[in-house]
Amino acid sequence: MTESGHSAPRKRGRLTAPQFAALKGTGQKITMVTAYDYPFARLVDEAGVEAVLVGDSLSMVVQGHDSTLPVTLDEMIYHAEMVGRAVERALVIVDMPFPSYHLGKHKAIENAGKILKETRCQAVKLEGGADQADTIHALVSAGIPVIAHCGLRPQSVHQLGGYRVQRDEAALLHDARAAAEAGAFSVVLECIPSDVARRITEKITIPTIGIGAGPDCDGQVLVLHDVLGLTCDYVPRFVKQYANLQDSALEALRSFRDEVRSGKFPAEEHGFK
Ligand code: KIV
Repeated sequence: MTESGHSAPRKRGRLTAPQFAALKGTGQKITMVTAYDYPFARLVDEAGVEAVLVGDSLSMVVQGHDSTLPVTLDEMIYHAEMVGRAVERALVIVDMPFPSYHLGKHKAIENAGKILKETRCQAVKLEGGADQADTIHALVSAGIPVIAHCGLRPQSVHQLGGYRVQRDEAALLHDARAAAEAGAFSVVLECIPSDVARRITEKITIPTIGIGAGPDCDGQVLVLHDVLGLTCDYVPRFVKQYANLQDSALEALRSFRDEVRSGKFPAEEHGFK
Protein backbone atom coordinates (compact mmCIF):
# COMPACT_ATOMS: atom_id res chain seq x y z
CA MET A 1 0.00 0.00 0.00
CA THR A 2 1.16 3.56 -0.67
CA GLU A 3 0.95 6.42 1.82
CA SER A 4 -2.45 7.36 0.37
CA GLY A 5 -3.77 3.84 1.05
CA HIS A 6 -3.94 2.84 -2.63
CA SER A 7 -2.28 -0.29 -3.98
CA ALA A 8 1.00 0.55 -5.65
CA PRO A 9 1.08 0.13 -9.46
CA ARG A 10 2.76 -3.11 -10.58
CA LYS A 11 5.41 -1.29 -12.64
CA ARG A 12 6.85 1.01 -10.00
CA GLY A 13 9.84 2.34 -11.91
CA ARG A 14 8.20 3.73 -14.99
CA LEU A 15 8.60 7.36 -16.04
CA THR A 16 5.29 9.20 -15.61
CA ALA A 17 3.66 11.65 -18.02
CA PRO A 18 4.38 14.65 -15.69
CA GLN A 19 8.03 13.56 -15.38
CA PHE A 20 8.23 13.26 -19.17
CA ALA A 21 6.77 16.78 -19.59
CA ALA A 22 9.18 18.16 -16.99
CA LEU A 23 12.15 17.18 -19.18
CA LYS A 24 11.49 20.25 -21.37
CA GLY A 25 14.08 22.89 -20.70
CA THR A 26 16.39 20.59 -18.71
CA GLY A 27 18.80 20.22 -21.62
CA GLN A 28 18.16 16.47 -21.82
CA LYS A 29 16.86 15.45 -25.24
CA ILE A 30 13.91 13.03 -25.05
CA THR A 31 13.86 9.76 -27.02
CA MET A 32 10.83 7.73 -28.02
CA VAL A 33 10.72 4.55 -30.11
CA THR A 34 7.74 2.46 -31.18
CA ALA A 35 7.22 -1.17 -30.17
CA TYR A 36 4.43 -3.62 -30.85
CA ASP A 37 5.32 -6.82 -28.99
CA TYR A 38 6.97 -8.19 -25.85
CA PRO A 39 10.54 -9.01 -26.99
CA PHE A 40 11.12 -5.76 -28.86
CA ALA A 41 9.44 -3.68 -26.15
CA ARG A 42 11.87 -5.21 -23.64
CA LEU A 43 14.80 -4.26 -25.87
CA VAL A 44 13.57 -0.70 -26.43
CA ASP A 45 13.05 -0.27 -22.68
CA GLU A 46 16.44 -1.77 -21.89
CA ALA A 47 18.05 0.73 -24.28
CA GLY A 48 16.97 3.49 -21.91
CA VAL A 49 14.59 5.58 -24.04
CA GLU A 50 12.16 7.80 -22.16
CA ALA A 51 9.02 6.57 -23.93
CA VAL A 52 7.75 3.54 -25.83
CA LEU A 53 4.97 4.26 -28.29
CA VAL A 54 2.60 1.54 -29.45
CA GLY A 55 2.08 3.42 -32.70
CA ASP A 56 -0.69 2.84 -35.17
CA SER A 57 2.24 2.44 -37.59
CA LEU A 58 1.57 -1.16 -36.47
CA SER A 59 -0.90 -1.17 -39.35
CA MET A 60 1.94 -0.68 -41.86
CA VAL A 61 5.11 -2.19 -40.38
CA VAL A 62 3.54 -5.25 -38.71
CA GLN A 63 0.23 -5.83 -40.48
CA GLY A 64 1.46 -4.90 -43.96
CA HIS A 65 -1.22 -2.36 -44.85
CA ASP A 66 -0.37 0.67 -46.97
CA SER A 67 -1.68 3.20 -44.41
CA THR A 68 -2.44 3.47 -40.69
CA LEU A 69 -6.19 3.54 -41.31
CA PRO A 70 -7.06 -0.20 -41.13
CA VAL A 71 -5.76 -1.05 -37.63
CA THR A 72 -8.58 -1.42 -35.09
CA LEU A 73 -8.88 -0.47 -31.43
CA ASP A 74 -8.93 -4.15 -30.40
CA GLU A 75 -5.77 -4.84 -32.42
CA MET A 76 -4.01 -1.85 -30.83
CA ILE A 77 -5.03 -3.15 -27.39
CA TYR A 78 -3.83 -6.67 -28.22
CA HIS A 79 -0.36 -5.34 -29.06
CA ALA A 80 -0.31 -2.74 -26.27
CA GLU A 81 -0.94 -5.52 -23.74
CA MET A 82 2.29 -7.22 -24.85
CA VAL A 83 4.21 -3.96 -24.62
CA GLY A 84 2.61 -3.15 -21.27
CA ARG A 85 3.86 -6.46 -19.88
CA ALA A 86 7.40 -5.81 -21.07
CA VAL A 87 8.22 -2.21 -20.15
CA GLU A 88 9.53 -1.43 -16.68
CA ARG A 89 11.18 1.99 -16.97
CA ALA A 90 9.87 4.01 -19.90
CA LEU A 91 6.56 5.82 -20.21
CA VAL A 92 4.22 3.74 -22.39
CA ILE A 93 1.92 5.57 -24.80
CA VAL A 94 -0.68 4.01 -27.11
CA ASP A 95 -1.96 5.54 -30.33
CA MET A 96 -5.71 5.93 -30.57
CA PRO A 97 -6.51 4.45 -33.98
CA PHE A 98 -8.80 6.03 -36.58
CA PRO A 99 -11.68 6.77 -35.83
CA SER A 100 -11.67 5.87 -32.11
CA TYR A 101 -11.70 9.52 -30.99
CA HIS A 102 -13.69 11.13 -33.82
CA LEU A 103 -17.18 10.16 -32.64
CA GLY A 104 -17.53 12.53 -29.71
CA LYS A 105 -15.87 13.12 -26.37
CA HIS A 106 -17.70 10.33 -24.55
CA LYS A 107 -16.71 7.73 -27.11
CA ALA A 108 -13.11 9.01 -26.96
CA ILE A 109 -13.05 8.66 -23.15
CA GLU A 110 -14.60 5.19 -23.41
CA ASN A 111 -11.98 4.05 -25.94
CA ALA A 112 -8.98 5.67 -24.24
CA GLY A 113 -10.24 4.30 -20.91
CA LYS A 114 -10.41 0.81 -22.43
CA ILE A 115 -6.78 1.17 -23.58
CA LEU A 116 -5.59 2.20 -20.11
CA LYS A 117 -7.69 -0.40 -18.28
CA GLU A 118 -6.64 -3.34 -20.43
CA THR A 119 -2.99 -2.68 -21.28
CA ARG A 120 -1.11 -1.21 -18.28
CA CYS A 121 -0.08 1.63 -20.60
CA GLN A 122 -0.12 5.15 -19.18
CA ALA A 123 -1.09 7.63 -21.88
CA VAL A 124 -2.70 7.92 -25.31
CA LYS A 125 -1.70 9.78 -28.46
CA LEU A 126 -4.16 11.22 -30.95
CA GLU A 127 -3.71 13.12 -34.20
CA GLY A 128 -4.81 16.73 -34.24
CA GLY A 129 -4.39 20.08 -32.53
CA ALA A 130 -7.00 22.82 -32.51
CA ASP A 131 -9.54 20.47 -34.13
CA GLN A 132 -9.15 17.97 -31.27
CA ALA A 133 -8.78 20.47 -28.39
CA ASP A 134 -12.19 19.63 -26.89
CA THR A 135 -11.44 15.91 -26.97
CA ILE A 136 -7.95 16.39 -25.49
CA HIS A 137 -9.48 18.48 -22.69
CA ALA A 138 -12.17 15.86 -22.02
CA LEU A 139 -9.62 13.02 -21.87
CA VAL A 140 -7.29 14.98 -19.59
CA SER A 141 -10.26 15.88 -17.35
CA ALA A 142 -10.97 12.15 -17.10
CA GLY A 143 -7.41 11.60 -15.85
CA ILE A 144 -6.01 10.28 -19.12
CA PRO A 145 -2.67 11.83 -20.18
CA VAL A 146 -2.67 12.81 -23.85
CA ILE A 147 0.08 13.49 -26.36
CA ALA A 148 -1.04 15.30 -29.51
CA HIS A 149 0.30 14.71 -33.03
CA CYS A 150 0.49 17.71 -35.38
CA GLY A 151 1.98 18.39 -38.82
CA LEU A 152 1.68 15.40 -41.10
CA ARG A 153 -1.16 13.35 -39.63
CA PRO A 154 -1.03 9.94 -41.33
CA GLN A 155 -4.66 9.14 -40.40
CA SER A 156 -5.66 12.12 -42.60
CA VAL A 157 -3.55 11.02 -45.57
CA HIS A 158 -6.51 11.13 -47.96
CA GLN A 159 -7.49 14.62 -46.90
CA LEU A 160 -3.87 15.86 -47.03
CA GLY A 161 -3.41 14.34 -50.50
CA GLY A 162 -0.41 12.18 -49.52
CA TYR A 163 2.45 11.99 -47.05
CA ARG A 164 3.68 15.54 -47.61
CA VAL A 165 5.74 18.01 -45.60
CA GLN A 166 3.34 20.42 -43.84
CA ARG A 167 4.50 24.03 -44.16
CA ASP A 168 1.73 26.34 -42.90
CA GLU A 169 3.57 27.78 -39.89
CA ALA A 170 0.63 29.76 -38.50
CA ALA A 171 -1.64 26.71 -38.60
CA LEU A 172 1.03 24.44 -37.10
CA LEU A 173 1.73 26.84 -34.23
CA HIS A 174 -2.00 27.29 -33.65
CA ASP A 175 -2.43 23.48 -33.44
CA ALA A 176 0.50 22.90 -31.09
CA ARG A 177 -0.60 25.76 -28.82
CA ALA A 178 -4.22 24.58 -28.79
CA ALA A 179 -3.09 21.06 -27.83
CA ALA A 180 -0.94 22.43 -24.99
CA GLU A 181 -3.73 24.71 -23.75
CA ALA A 182 -6.19 21.80 -23.82
CA GLY A 183 -3.88 19.89 -21.46
CA ALA A 184 -1.73 17.67 -23.71
CA PHE A 185 1.56 16.90 -21.94
CA SER A 186 3.56 16.75 -25.19
CA VAL A 187 3.16 17.05 -28.94
CA VAL A 188 4.63 15.04 -31.81
CA LEU A 189 5.58 17.20 -34.80
CA GLU A 190 5.76 15.12 -37.97
CA CYS A 191 7.27 16.22 -41.28
CA ILE A 192 7.51 19.95 -40.88
CA PRO A 193 10.42 22.27 -41.80
CA SER A 194 13.18 22.30 -39.18
CA ASP A 195 13.06 26.07 -38.60
CA VAL A 196 9.29 25.95 -38.07
CA ALA A 197 9.72 23.13 -35.55
CA ARG A 198 12.39 25.17 -33.74
CA ARG A 199 10.12 28.23 -33.46
CA ILE A 200 7.18 26.12 -32.23
CA THR A 201 9.47 24.42 -29.69
CA GLU A 202 10.56 27.83 -28.40
CA LYS A 203 7.00 29.11 -28.15
CA ILE A 204 5.12 26.29 -26.41
CA THR A 205 5.46 25.04 -22.84
CA ILE A 206 5.21 21.28 -23.50
CA PRO A 207 7.93 19.10 -25.08
CA THR A 208 7.90 18.75 -28.86
CA ILE A 209 8.88 15.32 -30.16
CA GLY A 210 10.00 15.47 -33.78
CA ILE A 211 9.91 12.99 -36.62
CA GLY A 212 11.13 14.62 -39.80
CA ALA A 213 11.07 17.95 -37.94
CA GLY A 214 14.78 18.70 -37.55
CA PRO A 215 17.18 18.73 -34.61
CA ASP A 216 15.69 21.49 -32.47
CA CYS A 217 12.66 19.66 -31.08
CA ASP A 218 12.81 18.69 -27.41
CA GLY A 219 13.01 15.05 -28.44
CA GLN A 220 12.88 12.62 -31.35
CA VAL A 221 10.73 9.59 -32.16
CA LEU A 222 11.34 6.88 -34.76
CA VAL A 223 9.55 3.73 -35.81
CA LEU A 224 11.35 0.64 -34.45
CA HIS A 225 11.44 -1.22 -37.77
CA ASP A 226 13.04 1.81 -39.43
CA VAL A 227 15.72 2.15 -36.71
CA LEU A 228 16.62 -1.53 -36.93
CA GLY A 229 16.48 -1.88 -40.71
CA LEU A 230 13.49 -4.20 -40.66
CA THR A 231 11.23 -2.11 -42.88
CA CYS A 232 10.24 -4.11 -45.94
CA ASP A 233 9.37 -1.41 -48.44
CA TYR A 234 9.71 2.37 -48.48
CA VAL A 235 11.90 4.08 -45.87
CA PRO A 236 11.19 7.82 -45.45
CA ARG A 237 14.04 10.29 -45.95
CA PHE A 238 13.94 11.48 -42.32
CA VAL A 239 14.78 8.00 -41.03
CA LYS A 240 18.24 6.92 -39.95
CA GLN A 241 18.75 3.15 -39.92
CA TYR A 242 21.06 2.16 -37.06
CA ALA A 243 21.23 -1.54 -37.98
CA ASN A 244 20.35 -3.84 -40.85
CA LEU A 245 18.47 -6.66 -39.14
CA GLN A 246 16.74 -7.60 -42.37
CA ASP A 247 20.05 -8.76 -43.89
CA SER A 248 21.14 -10.52 -40.67
CA ALA A 249 17.77 -12.29 -40.38
CA LEU A 250 17.86 -13.39 -44.02
CA GLU A 251 21.39 -14.72 -43.62
CA ALA A 252 20.42 -16.70 -40.50
CA LEU A 253 17.32 -18.17 -42.14
CA ARG A 254 19.24 -19.17 -45.28
CA SER A 255 21.93 -20.82 -43.12
CA PHE A 256 19.23 -22.85 -41.34
CA ARG A 257 17.77 -23.94 -44.67
CA ASP A 258 21.20 -24.89 -46.06
CA GLU A 259 22.28 -26.79 -42.92
CA VAL A 260 19.06 -28.83 -42.85
CA ARG A 261 19.48 -29.64 -46.52
CA SER A 262 23.14 -30.62 -46.07
CA GLY A 263 22.52 -32.63 -42.86
CA LYS A 264 24.69 -30.33 -40.71
CA PHE A 265 21.71 -29.44 -38.48
CA PRO A 266 20.60 -30.92 -36.16
CA ALA A 267 23.96 -32.19 -34.85
CA GLU A 268 24.45 -34.70 -32.04
CA GLU A 269 24.31 -31.98 -29.32
CA HIS A 270 20.84 -30.95 -30.43
CA GLY A 271 19.39 -34.41 -29.83
CA PHE A 272 18.43 -36.47 -26.77
CA LYS A 273 19.73 -39.83 -25.62
O1 KIV B 1 2.32 5.48 -35.35
C1 KIV B 1 3.46 5.88 -35.14
O2 KIV B 1 4.43 5.11 -35.12
C2 KIV B 1 3.64 7.30 -34.90
C3 KIV B 1 5.04 7.82 -34.83
C4 KIV B 1 5.65 7.81 -36.17
C5 KIV B 1 5.11 9.15 -34.19
O3 KIV B 1 2.71 8.02 -34.78
